[in-house]
Amino acid sequence: MYKILDKNKLAPEIVRFKVAAPEVATKAKPGHFLIVRVDEQAERIPLTIADYNRDKGTITIIIQEVGFSSRQICNLDKGDAFLDLVGPLGEPIETKDYDKVVCIGGGLGNAPLYPKAKSLKEHGAEVVSILGAQTAEKLILEEEFNEVSDKLYIATDDGSKGKEGFVTDILEELLEAGEEFELAIAIGPMIMMKAVSELTAKYNLETMVSLNSLMIDGTGMCGGCRVTVAGETKFACVDGPAFDGHLVDFDEQLRRQQFYKEHEAKVKECDHI
Ligand code: FES
Repeated sequence: MYKILDKNKLAPEIVRFKVAAPEVATKAKPGHFLIVRVDEQAERIPLTIADYNRDKGTITIIIQEVGFSSRQICNLDKGDAFLDLVGPLGEPIETKDYDKVVCIGGGLGNAPLYPKAKSLKEHGAEVVSILGAQTAEKLILEEEFNEVSDKLYIATDDGSKGKEGFVTDILEELLEAGEEFELAIAIGPMIMMKAVSELTAKYNLETMVSLNSLMIDGTGMCGGCRVTVAGETKFACVDGPAFDGHLVDFDEQLRRQQFYKEHEAKVKECDHI
């Protein structure tokens, strides 16, 4: 059992847990994720490791309530525990030897982006962060990014915080003004990662994205998380979730997300009959 040591609400329907998991904390690196299960009947849910403390043996996970299983997790409290916690899974990303990077996060994507920005900063990079959300209320981890960023820009759809508009508007302004980066990391909604990758391709800026594809087993066996990268089939759970944004077939990913949304809507309709 993996005990919840702390719980706090970051935004409406977004919750952060600190969990005792010493073996995972020892091995965790930026880019890793976990699969958790609340009890024997519960669905297996993949979650990014949003932070870890090797000395204290703790990991941090952030989850948004979007359906039954995520609600079940969000309803857990300090003192409760997860039955299973499998990880770290996936391929970690390299954060050494960069001089200047730009980290671009959107919505819940700020959670997996944070350990990467933190590690890049710890390895001596100058970190420029651009965070986006629909509203100021939904913006998460601003304080944490402030601590690990040399410059922090914010964009909200309604202008309630920072610039009114999208993260790509700010990124484009910086690139247009001649700012040079060795690497861009973009994590957020698929459409945002696609827009960032299209923009950075024009500037030949190496770009890493992290795909939040549907995951079931997390071991490369079920095929649920498959993605086409440079014309080849890859699995986000074992080959990623980070990939070269200029090589990902985002349109295929967007079509698959749409398919699952329609399927979920039909299941919900059936639930109400
Ligand atoms: Fe099953 Fe990746 S989650 S192949």
